[in-house]
Amino acid sequence: MSKREDSIATLDLTHRLRRLRRTQALRDLTQETFLRVEDLVFPLFLVEGERKREEVPSMPNIFRYSIDNALKACEELQTLGIRAIDLFGVPLVKDERGSEALNPNGLIQRGIRAIKKEFPDLCVMTDVALDPFTSHGHDGLVKDGKILNDETVEVLCEMARLHAECGADVVAPSDMMDGRVGAIRKALDEAGFVDVAILAYSAKYASSFYAPFRDALQSAPKFGDKKTYQMNPANADEAMREIELDIAEGADIVMIKPAMTYLDIARRARERFQAPIAVYNVSGEYSMIKAAAKMGWIDGERAMMEALLSMKRAGAKLIFTYFALEAARLLRQS
Ligand code: PBG
Repeated sequence: MSKREDSIATLDLTHRLRRLRRTQALRDLTQETFLRVEDLVFPLFLVEGERKREEVPSMPNIFRYSIDNALKACEELQTLGIRAIDLFGVPLVKDERGSEALNPNGLIQRGIRAIKKEFPDLCVMTDVALDPFTSHGHDGLVKDGKILNDETVEVLCEMARLHAECGADVVAPSDMMDGRVGAIRKALDEAGFVDVAILAYSAKYASSFYAPFRDALQSAPKFGDKKTYQMNPANADEAMREIELDIAEGADIVMIKPAMTYLDIARRARERFQAPIAVYNVSGEYSMIKAAAKMGWIDGERAMMEALLSMKRAGAKLIFTYFALEAARLLRQS
């Protein structure tokens, strides 16, 4: 590049980092982190019925699908190159013990079978926790206002085994009960599902950012909060202990959740552990960007890509995100 007549050096600088930011080509050549379509996992909400596609009020452009329409959504995901979904469901009946979670013909069970039948190459992950199924909205069994640990783990093992039987590739316990990863691994192995992987929601915080998700699944806790099992947002060392235990118990992938307000945890985990790290870019994080963009206060697309890239930079390998389709479309264009 020729000397620019209009810029006369007045500072005697050896290093000018702006040199490598001067053109798009130089910026591309020196880019350190990349977002790939293959990194994205799309959380998919199922409802009972047929031909249903209901928009979640607090999550623009995110829908609850009946199984027939979920298959259409999977088709689109595959066309865009997205490799995985994470299944959640709104069951017709909720009760104290979340019994519907163990119904062999329950919504999620039928969903897994239908999706794996039509899209055998799509990686189907399933949420293992009781909250969408319990009338009280907690992730575990409740007695005298307390969330029971070991009794809940027993049910989760059954649930994971059932998902595996239906064809799930990965089961993802999101309940934060102690010891559930080891117990689920044992239950899967004993039932012959040695190849079904466990993605553990290892460091899941008691966060305000789950509100739109609870709207989607009608699963907000009816009493109290989830602070006796989900983590205190102030704690980072504790997250390392949770992750370490889950890996020791047999977790194949460990997750940090939410993503945007916990990137420091992802970074620390990345430096300390070899297991692949996932982050969950949760509903509230999605809706915040959508709402600000709708108001014209930020550029929604740029904010989305910046947020997702920051998760990769922090050390995440997989990103669970409601932005998956939109981001994939953009990534394919560029
Ligand atoms: C519960 C579960 C939650 C989410 C995933 N699994 C909510 C909660 O703990 O109340 C939240 C996901 C999101 O906000 O997008 N097992």
